[in-house]
Amino acid sequence: MGIKIVETALRDGHQSLFATRMTTDEVVSMAKILDDAGYYAMEVWGGATFDACMRFLNEDPWERLRKIRAVCKKTKLQMLFRGQNILGYRHYSDDVVDMFCKKSIENGIDIIRVFDALNDIRNLQQAVKSTKKYGGECQIALSYTTSPVHTIEYYVNLAKEIEKLGADSLCIKDMAGVLTPEDAKKLFSALKKGTSLPLELHSHCTGGICEMTYMAAIENGCDIIDTALSPLSGGTAQPSTQAFNVALKDTKYDPALNVAALHECEPVMEKVKAKYLANGLLNPKALSVNPNILTYQVPGGMLSNLMSQLKAQNAMDKYDEVLKEVPRVRKDMGYPPLVTPLSQMVGTQAVLNVMTGVRYKMVAKEIKDYLHGKYGKAPAPVDPEIAKSIIGDDEVITCRPADLLAPEFEALKEKYKDIARCDEDVLSLALFENVAIEFLNKKYNPAPEVEVEEFNVVI
Ligand code: CO
Repeated sequence: MGIKIVETALRDGHQSLFATRMTTDEVVSMAKILDDAGYYAMEVWGGATFDACMRFLNEDPWERLRKIRAVCKKTKLQMLFRGQNILGYRHYSDDVVDMFCKKSIENGIDIIRVFDALNDIRNLQQAVKSTKKYGGECQIALSYTTSPVHTIEYYVNLAKEIEKLGADSLCIKDMAGVLTPEDAKKLFSALKKGTSLPLELHSHCTGGICEMTYMAAIENGCDIIDTALSPLSGGTAQPSTQAFNVALKDTKYDPALNVAALHECEPVMEKVKAKYLANGLLNPKALSVNPNILTYQVPGGMLSNLMSQLKAQNAMDKYDEVLKEVPRVRKDMGYPPLVTPLSQMVGTQAVLNVMTGVRYKMVAKEIKDYLHGKYGKAPAPVDPEIAKSIIGDDEVITCRPADLLAPEFEALKEKYKDIARCDEDVLSLALFENVAIEFLNKKYNPAPEVEVEEFNVVI
């Protein structure tokens, strides 16, 4: 058996390169061809695709999924799911997580990849349970980061817990692209010994070392890799599918993809890429190597976010200072991996610390919630003095945060009964309230064709 390939161009590819703006028609036209490629799965949904559909494209994300399913008869469809946050930014009650898994699978998803920013396994329990309940395949992705607590042993212990939890496979999600070949070698050989779960690697080419890291992982027990068809590969996205198909040919790892299908899709994807280059959504910078991320251990998306926050405040001269402040805030907070929503929280706090000139003089509500334990358990203890200066002697939650949430799906259904026409609509509203209200209003109450009456005004 060769290496299995998960094609990411239709989710992470355009999310990483041009802010998830590919339309449903574009995605479907390519999914239809790639269905013949012989992938293990295609990642096509979840992550930012759901929000972007409604917010920027005036499209229904559920309809997109159904249309992709209709043209993909052979390939498993995969989505990315943020544990108890689902695709949103707060913790949802278990019954909403359950309903989301149910509806995702009903509408066409086969594999749900679940992760939690803090790798707090308790935040993944419900999603695993529900995915299995509705017949889906559940993969848990561990957010990869480096810190004194993120040792090989840390990941192996988590992998064992994940296996016990009933997941079908384990992915190392290196969202910042900072995993080095040497660390991949150590990590994957240790995981192979520590668990019998199939192992997958997901990384990004931002730092320029990704292909070497993938090879090291493959040679040390990795079973599945995430790659993107070449037009949407490289830079801030995944390595090229075709490159790996060639590089591994005639080895025991040969993925044996159908080259004709890949070739057929290339010009279609090239044309789509050209459109986003021309309209400016795809910044050529996103396609080049940025070794700074290896120095600062900060995801590429976070770097550009910090830059735009500073530009908006006319404070680009503070950029270096903010970059140095990010790892300090991260240490104070117990080394959370910098992935959504923690990347935004840590980044914003670093900007506040530098701009006010006094660390933690101003603190965002989300950081306060984090210190109260509402996001789960920090990987390492939070700096006690800093925590005290921000939340005083407030009680800190140590249970699974969702245990404190009462079921809310029926209440949401009632709340949105005038707008929602199905449970899928209720879920869209629960996740992105204002965006979904605007979208669904337009969908169900299209503006009437206005007849213009001609009349003369006599003054
Ligand atoms: Co990614």
